[in-house]
Amino acid sequence: MREKVVIIGVGKVGLAVGYLLKKQGYRIAGVCARRRESVDRAVRFIGGEPSRNVAETSRLGDVVLLTTCDDQIQPVCEEIASKGGFRKGQKVIHMSGASSLEVLKSARDSGADILSIHPLQAFATVDGAIEQLPGTIFGVTAEDHLADWANNFVRALGGKPIRIADEQKAIYHAAACVVSNYFVTLMWIGKNMATQAGIPEKIALEAYWPLVRGTFKNLEKNTPVEALTGPIARGDIETIKEHRKKLERELHQFLKAYDVLGRHTVEVAIEKGTIDKGTAKKLLEELGG
Ligand SMILES: NC(=O)c1ccc[n+]([C@@H]2O[C@H](COP(=O)([O-])OP(=O)(O)OC[C@H]3O[C@@H](n4cnc5c(N)ncnc54)[C@H](OP(=O)(O)O)[C@@H]3O)[C@@H](O)[C@H]2O)c1
Repeated sequence: MREKVVIIGVGKVGLAVGYLLKKQGYRIAGVCARRRESVDRAVRFIGGEPSRNVAETSRLGDVVLLTTCDDQIQPVCEEIASKGGFRKGQKVIHMSGASSLEVLKSARDSGADILSIHPLQAFATVDGAIEQLPGTIFGVTAEDHLADWANNFVRALGGKPIRIADEQKAIYHAAACVVSNYFVTLMWIGKNMATQAGIPEKIALEAYWPLVRGTFKNLEKNTPVEALTGPIARGDIETIKEHRKKLERELHQFLKAYDVLGRHTVEVAIEKGTIDKGTAKKLLEELGG
C-alpha cells in the first residue's frame, strides 16, 4: 500500500488524479469539496472519508492534493494551516499551472513539504481527464530534495515530469494558454470568417478541419518554422492586401488579430528563409507594423 492521499477539490482534475492514483495502489483517505453533491459523487467514484471541512480532510493524508479552482488554493491552504491541519513531512500539492508555490506558504510554515505538479493538458470532463492524463507532460515545481518524490508521483499517473522554476511559471502557463485556448479562439475566428464567405455555419468548421489536421500533422513531425506554408511564407503581398481589404470592409473586428498574427508570421518566414528582408519589410508595413 502506498501513501494515503486526500483530495480537497474533487472536480475534473481532483477526481481523475484520484482515480488513477487509486489504481496505482495509493489509498484515497479523504475527499472534500464545498457542495455535498460533489463530495457524494467523489465517494462513489474513488472512495475516501467524505467531508466539507478542509482541515479535517487534510489531517487524514500523507499527501494533500489541493485541486480547488486556482483562486481558492491559497485561502483553503491558509484555513487548513490556521486550524492545525498540516504536519511535518506531509506533502502538500497544488496542480495549477499559473499559481506560484507561494500560495502554499502557510503549509510550508506548518512544516509540510510543498510542491506544484501541473498537468500540461486541457481537461473538459473527468472521463476525458482519465483518458488524457497518461502520457501528459507535468510541470514540476519543488525544492531539489523533493524532485525524486515528485517525479515518481507523476510517473504513477502515467505522466512525464519536467522541472519548471517557480519564477518562470507565469510564462510557462502563458505558453499553454496560447497554444491551447488561443488556438480554440483562432478556430472561432476562422469559423466566423467562413460563414461570412457564405459557408453554412453548420459545416464551417468541418470544411476547414482537414486543413487543420494537415497542419497538426506537419507540426507533429516538424518545427513551427519548417511547418509554415501560405502567402506570408511565399511573400505574396497582393494576397495579404486582398485579405485585409475584405476584412476591413466586412469583418473589421478581426483585422487587428489578423495583423498581429501576420506580423509574427513574417518573423517565422524570415527564420524559414523563404522571404528576403525587402519583402519582409513590405509585408510588415502592409500588416501595420
Ligand atoms: N481543467 C483543466 O484543464 C486543468 C488542467 C491543468 C490543471 N488544472 C488545475 O487543476 C485544479 C482544479 O481544476 P478543475 O478544472 O478540476 O476545477 P473544477 O472542475 O472546477 O473543480 C474544482 C473543485 O474544487 C472544489 N472547491 C472549490 N473551492 C473550494 C473550497 N473553498 N473548499 C473546498 N473545495 C473547493 C469544488 O467544489 P464544488 O464542486 O463543491 O464547488 C470542485 O470540486 C486547478 O488548480 C486548475 O488550474 C486544471
